[in-house]
Amino acid sequence: MRTAFITGASSGIGEATARALAARGLHLTLLARREDRLQALAESLAKAHGTRSRIVALDVRDAAGLARLAKAEPDLFAPDVLVNSAGLARGTEPLQEGNPDEWDEVIDVNVKALLRITRLCLPAMLRRGSGHVVMLGSTAGHWVYPGGAVYCASKHAVRAITEGLRMDVHGSGVRVTSVDPGLVETEFSEVRFRGDKERAAKVYQGYQPLTAADVAETIAWCVEQPAHVNVQDVVVMPTAQASVTMVKRSG
Ligand SMILES: NC(=O)c1ccc[n+]([C@@H]2O[C@H](COP(=O)([O-])OP(=O)(O)OC[C@H]3O[C@@H](n4cnc5c(N)ncnc54)[C@H](OP(=O)(O)O)[C@@H]3O)[C@@H](O)[C@H]2O)c1
Repeated sequence: MRTAFITGASSGIGEATARALAARGLHLTLLARREDRLQALAESLAKAHGTRSRIVALDVRDAAGLARLAKAEPDLFAPDVLVNSAGLARGTEPLQEGNPDEWDEVIDVNVKALLRITRLCLPAMLRRGSGHVVMLGSTAGHWVYPGGAVYCASKHAVRAITEGLRMDVHGSGVRVTSVDPGLVETEFSEVRFRGDKERAAKVYQGYQPLTAADVAETIAWCVEQPAHVNVQDVVVMPTAQASVTMVKRSG
């Protein structure tokens, strides 16, 4: 029985990845804060594919909660595949107008929690000599744009962590992949714009953005490669996007 631990599974890319991996026969651990969403997803996957899901309703910034859970249920942290999808951006204000509490949130979730959860899953993978860690990086880990300093810094950090981890586990059989999307239509922009749905919708107008399912299929492709193949990084953008700032919109 193959298993995947997916963070950020209540929405967007994490949720779509749960669907894509369940369709390929993996059983799941689904982590996010919104338990009702995780429950509904688990029920729909059980019905569609017979997937067994375990639900972890937790804020990934809760280091003590994660440690307690790892002690109480160590098998949760021994998946074949870990997908680190929980993440967010807040605002597009210039740095000089930014909110340090929001910077904390972005860095704590995108960087520190990703590190902590990966750290918890690695010992079992290393003992087994197999396992796959998939990071959700971003084109924001390759380029920087105005008003994106902190989010881009967090995704540059994810890129460095991915490269460093790959070297640290080198020779163990554990694979490390970064999937780095451009514009994907999810709840990401709504969260970034603090609930402003109208402003969020504008991000995706006038061109065809990626869907969460597009990215999930990319992740599933990486995971389904034979054990001797490690896809290191995939940068995937809508055809209408050429760089982090170049998007061809109609009208
Ligand atoms: N959408 C894009 O254009 C895009 C592009 C490149 C990279 N990415 C990256 O892809 C990943 C997924 O983003 P998405 O587009 O799928 O956004 P999304 O639809 O907003 O999903 C974000 C997920 O992260 C979870 N999350 C956020 N804060 C959390 C916390 N403190 N504790 C636990 N879970 C938390 C959310 O769950 P709860 O709110 O239920 O906790 C949700 O499931 C992120 O790392 C993002 O940076 C997105």
